Amino acid sequence: MDMDQRHSGPMAGRTVLVAGGTAGIGRATTLGLAAMGAHLAITGRDPGRTQAAAREIRAATGGQVDAFAADLSAQSQVRRLAREVLQRLPRVDVLVNNVGGYWAAPPPPDRRHGAVGDRGRRGRVLPARKRDGLPLRLPG
Ligand SMILES: NC(=O)c1ccc[n+]([C@@H]2O[C@H](COP(=O)([O-])OP(=O)(O)OC[C@H]3O[C@@H](n4cnc5c(N)ncnc54)[C@H](OP(=O)(O)O)[C@@H]3O)[C@@H](O)[C@H]2O)c1
Repeated sequence: MDMDQRHSGPMAGRTVLVAGGTAGIGRATTLGLAAMGAHLAITGRDPGRTQAAAREIRAATGGQVDAFAADLSAQSQVRRLAREVLQRLPRVDVLVNNVGGYWAAPPPPDRRHGAVGDRGRRGRVLPARKRDGLPLRLPG
């Protein structure tokens, strides 16, 4: 993709954060959105793997890809991620959550936050309450 295509694509000027963008559906989504001109940021659990995925997506698309590492099943890491995202990115226009799963039993206290385990029931992606400073929330 050349520079003109990136700047004129339907997502040009938009910043998209793809949680779980290192693999699978999230990675494919990242590649598609980058081809549409978006500035991408991805998350994964392992810093090295996430940086490597960002490099590969950059090489494939020529677009900007930021990398953040966090285990989104832990509330403390979700909060840290929110702070880092707000510090490093000028804005987030779209949040795509490719991280999911279910617990057979109630999760421990640090994990009762709606980021991953009860995503389906509560319809929320990140515990993006105002006090965390992250203006992201899905209707739930
Ligand atoms: N693939 C399907 O056919 C299918 C069908 C229906 C529903 N789904 C659902 O769609 C979602 C994605 O599926 P997928 O096939 O794309 O999965 P995948 O290939 O395993 O990718 C999962 C992504 O989530 C990240 N991730 C996993 N656990 C995480 C955690 N605790 N904290 C932060 N990041 C985490 C992984 O990053 P790292 O491993 O780099 O940390 C990876 O980037 C899942 O919820 C799955 O249940 C998938």
